[in-house]
Formats: sequence, structure tokens, C-alpha cells
Amino acid sequence: MEKIKAAIVGAGIFGSFHARTFHEMSYVETVGICDLDKGRAEKLAAEFSIPGVYTDHREMIKKSGCDFISIATPDHLHATVAIDAAYAKCDFLVEKPFATTRKEIHAMREAIEKNGVRAMCDLHNRSSQPYAIAKQMIDSGAVGNVYSMYIRLNDNKTVATDMLSWSSASSILWFLGSHSLDLISYLCGSRPRTVYSLSRKGILQKLGVDTVDMYQTAIEFENGVIAQMENGWVVPNGNTALIDMKCNILCEKGAFNINTSNSDMLQVLTEDKTSTPNCIARPIINGRVEGFAPNNIRSFVDALMADTPFNVAVAEAADGCLAILSILESAEKRQMVEVQY
Ligand SMILES: NC(=O)c1ccc[n+]([C@@H]2O[C@H](COP(=O)([O-])OP(=O)(O)OC[C@H]3O[C@@H](n4cnc5c(N)ncnc54)[C@H](O)[C@@H]3O)[C@@H](O)[C@H]2O)c1
Repeated sequence: MEKIKAAIVGAGIFGSFHARTFHEMSYVETVGICDLDKGRAEKLAAEFSIPGVYTDHREMIKKSGCDFISIATPDHLHATVAIDAAYAKCDFLVEKPFATTRKEIHAMREAIEKNGVRAMCDLHNRSSQPYAIAKQMIDSGAVGNVYSMYIRLNDNKTVATDMLSWSSASSILWFLGSHSLDLISYLCGSRPRTVYSLSRKGILQKLGVDTVDMYQTAIEFENGVIAQMENGWVVPNGNTALIDMKCNILCEKGAFNINTSNSDMLQVLTEDKTSTPNCIARPIINGRVEGFAPNNIRSFVDALMADTPFNVAVAEAADGCLAILSILESAEKRQMVEVQY
């Protein structure tokens, strides 16, 4: 089987994970890695035997011989790379969120359509086992239509204060809200029509990170479904789960209660602490990274090679970001906002 050639933009936490995932796929060869920080790209290239190291994504797209790129730059820096890839006729996988301004979202969609490239946003929670199973049951008609939902997706403070150097340039709504909004839209099969969000700021500001702590958002979908969504990155660091994620889906003839916080599945107790390693997102099993996060990346490569639809359509990822812009506007104005698509 001829190998498909990948190249990666962004050699940070998630770019490293993309590199490992591709490295473990027998039919993928990573031919290039690009980071503004050359040392970081070189380190990843050495770890995964990647022949090309670049500091300019345009040069990498032109010279590496890649069939596609994956974009793992910070949340607010996806669009330029994606648009350049599209105009260079290069297919791409872009980390969530798709893009973070209205202008960029529309320019990215236009670039994809004009150039006939294939693109997917890595909204990987669609591949998370409990959500995928709930979606199948909803689509089968077994529980009737979705009626209302509650979802929360929060992070420990340390994600904003220590893990991400760029958290104040993004928002918890882009970093995690993009996932939770995508999930509830996917599950109910509709787009947000109106949103009303309340937010609070102060805890992270005192810790030197100028960003909103918490959003509580009420959403009405175009098909009438109503939902409440909570996104914050101020969970105390003593929470062993890092990610706090729960969802209740009420349907006309049934309901789902989902807890994908990694708090209950595996507890590891030592003399001085308890830890709860994540078992479903990206654990290492038999020496290989498994779980819904690599599976979603693999699904992109498989669909690209087979020329079949991706599990996240460009329009869905783009519309999700337009809805997040309306949530940000609502929180700013303290008013209900109708989403403009
Ligand atoms: N950290 C996570 O657990 C996680 C999980 C899922 C998705 N993501 C997403 O992945 C993306 C990257 O996040 P991260 O945590 O890896 O960030 P990071 O800060 O660890 O890495 C980002 C890297 O991109 C590089 N970069 C920035 N602009 C560039 C450009 N124009 N060209 C080349 N390199 C550039 C930076 O130098 C940095 O090394 C984000 O959109 C994030 O939401 C992160």
C-alpha cells in the first residue's frame, strides 16, 4: 500500500500528539514538521524520524511533498495556515476551533470551496465512545427526538495558568466550548438559533491570566431543542480529573446520563496522592496511543484516502464557531443574541 504523506504545523502539546498518531499508522509517513520555534520542530523531528524541519508553513507545503497537513497552532492562529493550505491545493485537518473571527471563518470556507480541497476540524468528542453510542441510539429512533440537554465541560485552572501560554488570547469557549457546543448540536441534529450567556471574570485575572473564568449559556436550537452549557477553566487544581465533563440528554422516550470526566473509571492511590488517569481519550495500550482522540485523527486519514465523507463537515465546524461568536457577544452585552450564520 502506498503511504499517504502528512506534514504538521505546530510542534507543541497537540502537534506532538498528531505526530505520534501518524507515526503509529503503518500507511502514513510524516514528511515535514513546522514550528516558529525551530528547536521544538527539530526535537519532534528527531523523536519521530521526520525528515523535513521548517519554520514557515508555506515553504513546508511547497517543498515537503505532503499530501495533507494537520494544523495544531494555538486556537486563534489556525486560519492563516488553513487558508494558505487551501490556496496551495493542500487538504488539511485543523484542530478545533475551526477559526475564531467571523472574517476568518468565512474566508476559510471560501478558500476550501474555491480550491476544491478536503478539510476536517478535529472535533474529536464525536468519536468519544459514550457520545457516539448515544448518537447512534438517537438516530435509530429508539428514544424519540432530543428534547433538552445539559452539558458541562470545564478544565482545572492549571490549563489556563500553566499549560497554555496563549490562554488569554483565546477563551474557554474556543478551547472547550467548541467541543461541547459541537456535541450538543451533533446530538440534536440542529444549529443554535438564539443564545443567552452570562460570564464572570476575576479568578484567573488575579493569577495573571486576563481571560473570562466561566460562561453559563442557555441555547435554543433551530429545531426547538433547549440546552444549558457550562464552560469554565477555574476548577480547583486538586481535582484529579483535569477535565470535568458531564452531559444529560432528555429525549421524548428516554434519556442519557454521560460522565466522561476521568474521575471514576480508574483511581490510582499512593501514600501521598490519588490520581485518575484518562482511560478513553488517549491512553497508551500495548505501546500504541488508543482512544477517541487518535481514532478521530485516523478517521480523517481513512476518509481522505477512501474519498468518503469526514465525520465533521466543514459547514458544521464553521457554524459552531459562528454560534460561539454570538455567545461571546451575548455575554458581553448581557442580552439574548440571535446567531448570524
Ligand atoms: N493541549 C491539548 O490538550 C489540546 C487538546 C486538543 C486540542 N488542542 C488544540 O490544539 C491546538 C494547539 O494546542 P497546543 O496545546 O498544542 O498548543 P501549544 O502552545 O503547545 O503549541 C502550539 C505550537 O504552535 C506553534 N505555532 C504558532 N504559530 C505558528 C505558525 N504560524 N507556524 C508554525 N508554528 C506555529 C507554537 O510555536 C507552538 O509550538 C489548539 O488549537 C488547541 O485548542 C489542544
